[in-house]
Amino acid sequence: MAIAEPTVAPLVPQLLEVRAHRRETADTATLTLAPTGPTALGDAAPRPGQFAMLAAFGAGEVPISYSAMAGHGGAVEHTVRSVGAATAALAAARPGDLVASRGPFGTGWDLDAATGRDVVVVAGGIGLAPLRGVVDAVLADRDRYGSVNVLVGARTPDDLCFAEHLRGWSARGDVEVAITVDRLGDPASRWPGAIGVVTGLLDGACFDPDAATAFVCGPEVMMRATVRALGVQGVDVADVQVSVERSMTCGVGHCGHCQLGPVLVCREGPVLPAARVLPLLEVRER
Ligand SMILES: Cc1cc2nc3c(=O)[nH]c(=O)nc-3n(C[C@H](O)[C@H](O)[C@H](O)COP(=O)(O)OP(=O)(O)OC[C@H]3O[C@@H](n4cnc5c(N)ncnc54)[C@H](O)[C@@H]3O)c2cc1C
Ligand code: FES
Repeated sequence: MAIAEPTVAPLVPQLLEVRAHRRETADTATLTLAPTGPTALGDAAPRPGQFAMLAAFGAGEVPISYSAMAGHGGAVEHTVRSVGAATAALAAARPGDLVASRGPFGTGWDLDAATGRDVVVVAGGIGLAPLRGVVDAVLADRDRYGSVNVLVGARTPDDLCFAEHLRGWSARGDVEVAITVDRLGDPASRWPGAIGVVTGLLDGACFDPDAATAFVCGPEVMMRATVRALGVQGVDVADVQVSVERSMTCGVGHCGHCQLGPVLVCREGPVLPAARVLPLLEVRER
């Protein structure tokens, strides 16, 4: 994965208007954002896995992945889980509100590495947001890949994001979608699916471990467990890409806030080869 050089003025925010607000779960919403002028996205269209520094006025600026790439009129989607001041303000934004955006920044998923191979997408919670673009891109060019498995874990059925998209992918018949929840949450919940951690879904997934490329995003503990479980299935760690999160301020390699060992995650990541980044995450946790 090559280091990403921003193709737009990296420190100049651009105004985007909220065109639509879709509630995903109690704490998570997807915003459709569109340029207020013809040049708002610059000449750079985002790729799956890249992120923007999104600001809600008066609340702060935070890194948020693109959950859908530029569509009609340059509109993009971001899916925001409210965990603090900035994300709460973004998730509460309504059609007509303005937000500021810098980006796209960072490395995207290396889809070329999966050409002619089986694709395994493993997402935990909001980790499906940066991976949604991978699934959309693979399905838009379906003949280019072998089997496609999308494995998703959520805390409870009520915490599942992109339920409609998951149903749509599943209905196609040329992609296997499996979902698990950690627990039922609401005891009255009529959850027909699996209960347990997302790595448990790998046992039921049909792919050739010698010819599979895996894309993984979720909490760090989930990503480490997933890479280990993929290894047990016979997938080489060299064929696994992960997306990591770090606190970010500039987003373009100037401030050092996002440093993880020798890696500036905003420039060299957030998508990185698992073989490179997992040892760094383990050192940090010792
Ligand atoms: C490349 C990248 C892509 C991201 N994509 C998304 C996305 O698509 N959707 C989304 O909802 N969130 C995403 N995040 C996480 C998001 O940036 C943080 O949740 C946000 O910065 C929190 O800011 P806040 O002001 O709302 O909360 P704060 O008050 O700053 O923090 C609230 C809590 O979240 C924790 N936190 C803060 N920043 C991070 C972080 N970067 N990673 C993990 N925990 C953090 C804090 O420790 C604290 O416990 C992404 C982060 C990165 C680095
Ligand atoms: S966020 Fe400033 S160097 Fe990465």
